[in-house]
Amino acid sequence: MTTPTVSEKERDLKTFRDYFFSMSRLASLPWNFVEEKLVGSKSSEVISQILNETCFHRLCSEFPPSVRYRRLFLSELIKREEASGLDPSDHLYDALAQVIGAAETTLCYKSYFLPGGGAVTLQENVAVISEGTTGLVTWEAALFLAEWALDNQQYFNNRAVLELGSGVGLTGITVCSSCRPSEFIFSDCHPRVLHKLRENIALNKLDRQAVRVEELDWSSVTEERLAAVRADTVIAADVVYDPVVVETLVSLLRRIVASSRADVFVCSAVRNPDTYRGFTEQLEAGGIRLEVLSDPVTRIFPCNTDSHIELIKLHQKIPQ
Ligand SMILES: C[S@@+](CC[C@H](N)C(=O)[O-])C[C@H]1O[C@@H](n2cnc3c(N)ncnc32)[C@H](O)[C@@H]1O
Repeated sequence: MTTPTVSEKERDLKTFRDYFFSMSRLASLPWNFVEEKLVGSKSSEVISQILNETCFHRLCSEFPPSVRYRRLFLSELIKREEASGLDPSDHLYDALAQVIGAAETTLCYKSYFLPGGGAVTLQENVAVISEGTTGLVTWEAALFLAEWALDNQQYFNNRAVLELGSGVGLTGITVCSSCRPSEFIFSDCHPRVLHKLRENIALNKLDRQAVRVEELDWSSVTEERLAAVRADTVIAADVVYDPVVVETLVSLLRRIVASSRADVFVCSAVRNPDTYRGFTEQLEAGGIRLEVLSDPVTRIFPCNTDSHIELIKLHQKIPQ
C-alpha cells in the first residue's frame, strides 16, 4: 500500500467536495482513498477531513444538498469506518444529527465549483421531471457547454449572448461569472422555470445591468423580437430531447442563422440517437452546415452521464 502524497490527498478531498455539492452519483466517489486512509492510520482523521469539505463546509449550512443525499452520503462514510474496525466518530454523529429526522423536500441546492474560486449555486428540483418540465434541474450538456465556454471565452467576452432553453441557469451563470459577456439574455418558455431562473440569478449575485431573463418560446418568437435581441453568440444546452419540440427548435435556429451573424452553438447529450439524428438531418435539410467541435474540454464539473455529448456550431450553407 502506498501513502498518498499531499496533492493526491487534496485532490481526493476536493473530489468529495465537488461530488457532494453537485449531488453526483455516490458510487463514483473515491471510496478506496477513504478505506486506505482509515486502515493505514487506524484513526478517523480522514472522515473528519471529508466532513469539513462536505457537511461542515460553510456552503452546506446555507445551501445544502438534499436531506436524502446527505443521509446516503453519511451512511457510506459510516459503512467504511465500521468496515475498518473503527467506531463511528463523534464528528460523524454530529453530521448525522443534522439530517436524522429532517423532512425530505422536493427542492435542494447544488453547487458547482469554478476553477478561479467560488461556485455557482443553484436551487434545483430533486426530481428530473417535475411540474411538467425538464427545466428545473441541471442537465449534463449544460455542464459541458459551460466548461467549453470557459475554454473558449472569445465567443463570450464582451459579446451579447442569448441562451435558449436556459433551465435553472448553470451555463449562463457560469458564463456571466467567468467570461465577462457585455450582455447575457437567459430565456425559456416555462413560467416555473423562468421563476426559478430569476431566483438562481439573484442567488449568484450577477450584475443586473448586464443580465436579462426573457420568456422566449421557440414556437412563437417573432422576427422583430429576434432582431431586437441582436445577439453575437447564441447557445443552447440539452434542448434536443423531444421529437415534437425539435421541429420548432430547428425552425428557430434556421431563422437565427439566416438573419444574423451570430455564432450559434448547440450542445446535446445524445440519449436517443434517433431523435438527435432527426434534429441534425432537419437542420441540414434547412440549409445549415454543422461543424462538430471535437476538441476536448477541460473538465471541471463532475460528470454523471454515459451518453455521448456533442457540441455543434451552426453555419449557413453557401449555395454551390
Ligand atoms: C432538458 S432542459 C435543459 C435546461 C438547461 N439548458 C440544461 O441543460 O440544464 C430543456 C429546456 O428547454 C426548455 N424548452 C422546451 N421547449 C421550449 C420552447 N418551445 N421554447 C423555449 N424553451 C423551451 C424547457 O423549459 C427546459 O428548460
